[in-house]
Amino acid sequence: MKALVTTGSIGPGLELGEVDPPQPASGEALVELTATSLNRGEVRHLAEEEPGTVLGWDVVGTVAQHAADGSGPPVGTRVVGLVGGRGWAEQVAVPTHALAAIPDDVPDAAAAVLPIAGLTAWRALEMGGLPLGARVLVTGAAGGVGRLAIQLASAAGAAVTAVIGRPERRTGLVQLGASEVVVGIDAATGSFDLILESVGGESLRRASELLAPEGTLVTYGRSSGEDGAIDPYWFGGHSGAHIEGLLVFTEVDRRRLGTVQLEKMLTLISSGRLDPQVTRTRPWSDPMPLVQALLDREVDGKAVLTVNP
Ligand SMILES: NC(=O)c1ccc[n+]([C@@H]2O[C@H](COP(=O)([O-])OP(=O)(O)OC[C@H]3O[C@@H](n4cnc5c(N)ncnc54)[C@H](OP(=O)(O)O)[C@@H]3O)[C@@H](O)[C@H]2O)c1
Repeated sequence: MKALVTTGSIGPGLELGEVDPPQPASGEALVELTATSLNRGEVRHLAEEEPGTVLGWDVVGTVAQHAADGSGPPVGTRVVGLVGGRGWAEQVAVPTHALAAIPDDVPDAAAAVLPIAGLTAWRALEMGGLPLGARVLVTGAAGGVGRLAIQLASAAGAAVTAVIGRPERRTGLVQLGASEVVVGIDAATGSFDLILESVGGESLRRASELLAPEGTLVTYGRSSGEDGAIDPYWFGGHSGAHIEGLLVFTEVDRRRLGTVQLEKMLTLISSGRLDPQVTRTRPWSDPMPLVQALLDREVDGKAVLTVNP
């Protein structure tokens, strides 16, 4: 079968190649891929991957083979799911606990943003408990996860401060539900009940100082590539507050709520209450312009690859 394989340090980075089809485990359905989205974590270190590696976490397609244990949607169902790799292939084995049927009125591209970006935003907000009227700070707010987090938090009644890296990234964030948009973490003032932090380094350190007593900071990324350094005596000024790490794969495997959460977000998209923010699509046969745009911070939302028959 065809798959997008890494080319290592020589070559374009990703190209279509031939690989063996997957052998699904008993709790996995075999899905024929129609779309996937690109995530920073997948493409950040492309040149360092072993040549011939199949990456890919977001899977949209049609069930070609029902899971052997009887779980999950039947053959022919249009689905979206999360895998821990090998998703950029014509056929993907997807655990049914992280697989959901897509409503007819939700396009493939819209569903493709949900496994990584959607489930990360959803879980990060859940971790904070999101009390009524909460003040929420989102860093990396113009990115794929950030744009979904702004919408989900504001829909839950939170006042959301969106932190962006550059003024030109401001466009559209207030319309998504941000109460205020600030350029750079130093421009954020006040204290926050919940902080979603994905830039790392100085952003993480500064964000930790903005945490309200009893508040929660969820750290899930390091887009800056900088190491974070939080003062070991930080807790002295933030009694009862805590910092939690989030890795979406672990959370989905551990809690077995992937299907339910994907279904909820699909319903929100279907009813027009969640905008997936797909701003770029491209055939998977020529992915590198989109990969480069993502690495260059030029994608205002999510980039999606479509798989042509
Ligand atoms: N732990 C997990 O399970 C998990 C799950 C999903 C994502 N993540 C991580 O979370 C982060 C956000 O994911 P995403 O999909 O939203 O990424 P994205 O779409 O690429 O957005 C990244 C955002 O970070 C900002 N940023 C600030 N400094 C940056 C720098 N030096 N280099 C690159 N970006 C910088 C960008 O700001 P500008 O708007 O100014 O460009 C951009 O809005 C990534 O680091 C990703 O790897 C982790």
